[in-house]
Amino acid sequence: MSTSHTGITEQVLTYRPPHPPVKEFEPATDRAFFADPEKKSLLAAAQKVRNLTPYIGTELVGIQISQLTDAQKDELALLVAERGVVFFRDQDITLDQQYELTKHYGIQDRDPNQVDPRHVTILGRNSDIRAYADFGGEYHSDHSFEANPPAYTMLRMIKTPDSGGDTIFTSQTALFDKLSPTFQNLFEGLHGVHSSEHVFVNSVNGGNKPFRPPVRREHPLIRTHPVTKLKSLFYNPTFVIHIAELKGQESIHTLGFLREHLHAADDLTVRWKWEPGSVAFWDNRVVVHRAIPGGYDPSTREGKRTAIYGEKPFFDPSGETLSQRIQRLGGETAKGEVVKLHFNSPQV
Ligand code: SIN
Repeated sequence: MSTSHTGITEQVLTYRPPHPPVKEFEPATDRAFFADPEKKSLLAAAQKVRNLTPYIGTELVGIQISQLTDAQKDELALLVAERGVVFFRDQDITLDQQYELTKHYGIQDRDPNQVDPRHVTILGRNSDIRAYADFGGEYHSDHSFEANPPAYTMLRMIKTPDSGGDTIFTSQTALFDKLSPTFQNLFEGLHGVHSSEHVFVNSVNGGNKPFRPPVRREHPLIRTHPVTKLKSLFYNPTFVIHIAELKGQESIHTLGFLREHLHAADDLTVRWKWEPGSVAFWDNRVVVHRAIPGGYDPSTREGKRTAIYGEKPFFDPSGETLSQRIQRLGGETAKGEVVKLHFNSPQV
């Protein structure tokens, strides 16, 4: 794909995508609702459960996801919803088995540029992430401009460089929690305008044939996770171009603040070093990620990404912030032990 901003060319004006935009629909109940809240079956099967950082990221050691029972699959969804992203190494799962596993969680999502309807092939990148209009290295949740942006995404790496090609994941639940109550209140009423126009233009000018036309959709800037009921920022620097309720400069500066808030959040972030056979399974509703490009031969990195459509993002004011959840479940003494809490613990 071209990384220069080539704008509205003849190619863009004359290109007709073969498919219409995806219409909003009501997905099936999130599989995490069917899970044992203690996740006993899944966690007991692991040789080791490594919580990689307090706020985000758990590695399950000694589990083959190709062998999960239906109960364990549901518990995995809950763990992903709670921890943002769950990692595995040395997986034997085949592409066909990955499709089947993805199907357990819902309807297979299709990225507008996705050639095979069942997966995206993820490659290495060596473009200049500092170049104008190169959004390849920027944080994002997967195509949030859809009416039903993806909930769970699974990425399995087949080839990885010896050095480089890591992926960073950041918790948007924690990002929201770290804002002052004044900013939290202000942001709760706002909506981000998510657009795929710039991606479409660059894609067509780069010689690709996106399957769907560009779209703009408004989603709450703060959304509530349907399973954990936690409030989370739903910011996406790759696709959010405006904040609907704000005037032009107010929006530009608010988005600038949010980007700085996100990029300064090393404490709310996990950086994953891939190996062939590694898998990451994340929840786009509460996590943004960025693949770190450059410094390696991009032909040495290849992965297969599958995802499912999620619910239309919503905001429920009765949801809790992470701190409110911690306070309710553990009080002051639990503040330093975020990871030990069950984010999804039933109401007490
Ligand atoms: C993606 O953006 O979904 C792929 C992430 C990666 O290449 O690590």
